[in-house]
Parts: sequence; C-alpha cells; structure tokens
Amino acid sequence: MPFTYRENRLFCGERDLLDLARSVSGPIYVYSVQDILERARRLRSAFGRVPHAIHYAMKANGNAEILRRLAREGLGADTVSAGEIEDALAAGFAPNSIVFSGVGKTRHEIEFAVRLGIKQINIESPQELERVAQVAMHLEKPIDVAFRMNPDVNPQTHPYITTGFRENKFGMDESFLPELLRILQRDGARVRLRGLTLHIGSQLTELASLEEAITKTLPVFHDLRGRGFPLDRFDIGGGLGIHYGSDDTSAEFQLMSEYGQLVHRLLGATLPTSGRMNDGSLGCEIMCEPGRMLVARSGLLIGQVQYIKSTPQKTFVILDTGMHHLLRPALYQAQHRVLPLETRVDSITKPYDIVGPICESSDVLAKNVVLPEIRQGDYVAIADAGAYGYSMASFYNRHALPTEIVLD
Ligand SMILES: Cc1ncc(COP(=O)(O)O)c(C=O)c1O
Repeated sequence: MPFTYRENRLFCGERDLLDLARSVSGPIYVYSVQDILERARRLRSAFGRVPHAIHYAMKANGNAEILRRLAREGLGADTVSAGEIEDALAAGFAPNSIVFSGVGKTRHEIEFAVRLGIKQINIESPQELERVAQVAMHLEKPIDVAFRMNPDVNPQTHPYITTGFRENKFGMDESFLPELLRILQRDGARVRLRGLTLHIGSQLTELASLEEAITKTLPVFHDLRGRGFPLDRFDIGGGLGIHYGSDDTSAEFQLMSEYGQLVHRLLGATLPTSGRMNDGSLGCEIMCEPGRMLVARSGLLIGQVQYIKSTPQKTFVILDTGMHHLLRPALYQAQHRVLPLETRVDSITKPYDIVGPICESSDVLAKNVVLPEIRQGDYVAIADAGAYGYSMASFYNRHALPTEIVLD
C-alpha cells in the first residue's frame, strides 16, 4: 500500500501527509504515481506472452501527470469524449493508441476522432455506425471500429455499475448484427471492422461473469471471421475491482493474475496473426480498459475537521470536503476507510459519521466508523479515492475543487 503509518502519522513514502496537508489551503487529493505504475506493470505481466494492449480508462482519473506517466509507460488510453481525447493527446498518448468508447458520441466528436486517426471507435448502436460511416465518407478518411457487444450477464456488483446486462443501455446483442452488417457491406472500405469489445461492469471482485461474457461473445467473433471480416482485436473492457474495506491488496493482485490466466485459457497464448490458430487460440490482440484497478488505491482525499457535532444519536465529524469531491458513497453507497493523518494513541475510540458541508443529507463520506478521538482542526483522509474521485467532483454549492498533488 502506498500510504502507511509511521508511529502515529500517515506517510506516503518519505512524505509526512500532515505536513503536506498543513501546507495547502483546502481539501486535497494526494496520489502515489509509483503505485499506479507498479500496478500497470503487474497487469502487463499477468498477460504474459499474449499479444495485448492496455488502454487506461481515463474516466477513472484524468490527472494530467498520471496520464503523462501512463503514456510514457506504454499504455494506450480509453476515452469517452472529445475532451478526454484532447487530454490524452496533451499527455503524450499517440492517436493510434487511443480508443473512443461511450454510447452518445456526437457528430463533432466522431469527426474529431476520425480526423486524428485514432486506433478504434467502439460502436454502441447501428445509428452510431451509420454516423461514423457518413463522417468517414465526408472526410475521405477510413477509421477502424469494434462492435461493443452486450452479452447479457449480470455481474455481482452495484446495479449502477453493471453495463453488460440486457437492461443496460450499453452495447448490442446479436439481433443488431444484420443491420450493422448492411452498413458495413456498403461502407466496409471506410469503416473497417477490427474486432469486438465488451465491458460488463465495474468493481468486479470475481471473474465468473467476465468468463461467461467472453464465452458468449466468442461465437459472434468466429461468425464474423467466417463471413470474411479479418477481425484481429478482442477487447475485454475494464472492471477489475479492489477491496475497499481493507488495506490488504493480496486478493486484488490474485484477481489480476487470475485475469491473465482467464485470457490465456479462453483467448489463448497467441502470436499476432489472423485466422483461428491450430492450437485453438484466437490469433489477435487482446485489449483491455482498466481504470479503477490501476488508480483507486493510489489516492487519498484529505479534508480538515471544521466541527465536531454531537447529538444524542451520533457524533458527526464535519469536514471541508464531502460528496461534491467524492461522490461514490452518496451515489453507490460505497464504503471507504477513514484514516486520520495523526492518531491519538491513548484516546478512547468511538463511532463517528464523517460528513461534508453540502446541503444534502446524502453528504456522508463514511458512516459509523470507529476511530480514535477526532478534534476540531484535525485532518482525516478518505482512503482508496484515486478512482472516480476527482473525475466525478463538482462545484456543487459553489465550493472550489480540491487541489491535486501527485507524489513520486
Ligand atoms: C467502456 C468502459 N471501459 C472501461 C471502463 C473502466 O472500468 P473500471 O474502472 O471498472 O476498470 C469503463 C467504466 O465505466 C467503461 O465504461
């Protein structure tokens, strides 16, 4: 873990976080970039000899320095808007390492992507494919695409973050294929189908539903190859989860290595050629789009205690940060650990609700957490806030955004 107590103070490497917090005005996000890079390397080694490409899902954390370091590390970027594509380019990702996902791409965004010649647009509907084809014709520029399939699996995760279930707006089932193929027959020279993609949901802590999704999608892949489309990419999306309740990372590292084994088993250890290989392998590049697994553990949100308010039922710790800076607890009932930057060793522990200044009762960062005594003026950190933290932050109630600090 990048953040550890020395004596009673929280550190990131050699950096005393209480000193750091005192030197900055207002709430801060602190990230350990080394932790992110180590995870990227670990994931890469889980794939072993399988030809693969890791496209970091920027929506998890679009901090410019983190992007820059991941680009330098050789990752690609998974983007969902023209704004993210711009940020990816500014951070040093080459256009041919950028994938463009998302259900609602506008004509302007598609034009931007086609002009740049990005690696792949992930198509979410026949109407979108039609629009991409029109843009490619208009610009006289071919573009590579992949069809996002909805394999109708229901991963055991929060309902707001399942995406590969038939009730979700994402992806397409096989009934869309005839229409998609009609468009390709007309425009296949400009819109080149390179592969299939899926993303079944986020915060997966076991792989059975991903296995089911890949198994259900493979026949479509082979069918399309059989029809003469030279598919050479299979994108298994993102979704690997972490264990927010604990600082023990062994289970998530185990999950990463099982993920690599799953890819080996289902998609095969291959050399990059097209066509089905004699050894049963797929003979294509396996792509993935991890977000949370790479960055969640790397970040803390640090706020200062403004007031301690006790009622007969509860003791509230009221911070200068809240749901406007970290929406996950309010949106997904997510539970984050709370780490005081300095612990009072001999104090009596008691339960606190950690809340923010926002005029909403859902502005609770953590409920009933048992901590050593907390006093006005103390600093506390909300742990594992590196993913979907700052990237979902808002100006709600006209508060400022937190400062972001990347520690190396
Ligand atoms: C298409 C797609 N790919 C990748 C991701 C990243 O997911 P995660 O952060 O769970 O790895 C998402 C998240 O919503 C997504 O929608």
